[in-house]
Amino acid sequence: MKLLNIALDGPAAAGKSTIAKLVAGELSMIYVDTGAMYRAITYKYLQQNKIEDFNQLIDTTELSLTYDEIKGQRVILDNQDVTDYLRENNVTSHVSYVASKEPVRTFAVKKQQELAAKKGIVMDGRDIGTVVLPNADLKVYMIASVEERALRRQKDNEQRGIESNLEQLKKEIADRDHYDMNREISPLMKADDAITVDTTGKSIETVTAEILSLVKSLD
Ligand code: C5P
Repeated sequence: MKLLNIALDGPAAAGKSTIAKLVAGELSMIYVDTGAMYRAITYKYLQQNKIEDFNQLIDTTELSLTYDEIKGQRVILDNQDVTDYLRENNVTSHVSYVASKEPVRTFAVKKQQELAAKKGIVMDGRDIGTVVLPNADLKVYMIASVEERALRRQKDNEQRGIESNLEQLKKEIADRDHYDMNREISPLMKADDAITVDTTGKSIETVTAEILSLVKSLD
């Protein structure tokens, strides 16, 4: 099969990473979670007591992604594997702010484009189809109702032993979307040539099959 790049964008908790991982597995492609890069930079910003000099923050940052057979993508920040800290609430509540900063975006987009240069990548994020990979072979814009996204996030949390309040999750998701859609640089939006996939009420298997059939239709 011809080597492809697939861009998967959409709002928070729409199921992008779950689906992207499965699609990448089915097609023997590499899955790249770009949100994890912004989360890692946010983690460092928090470690440095929220110093607002983002040029300095980026100039002193080394960031790379590695792949573990079992654990999947790992994020290495300044020689430390920080993957396990990236879903903490404090990171989640600051990541949209940090990701709106120009030095942060320029740095992350460059790395993402380098990763995709050899093709064979399924990349999920907010600006993949619009900015990072404008020539992707397939662009999917994945959406789901806020209600359903909050319910899924709650279930996820439950499985990890974390208690969460549904109304609070809904607010957190809606606020993050609002921030991501209204920032000045590369806001979250559907690329003109992206195909919208609404995952509301659909199983993971159904959505994965839908995307695989879109990939097949490229032949
Ligand atoms: O996908 P995830 O929820 O991990 O993304 C965390 C945050 O990172 C998003 O809410 C957004 O602010 C930022 N992000 C971004 N561009 C991307 C991926 C993520 O701005 N390509």
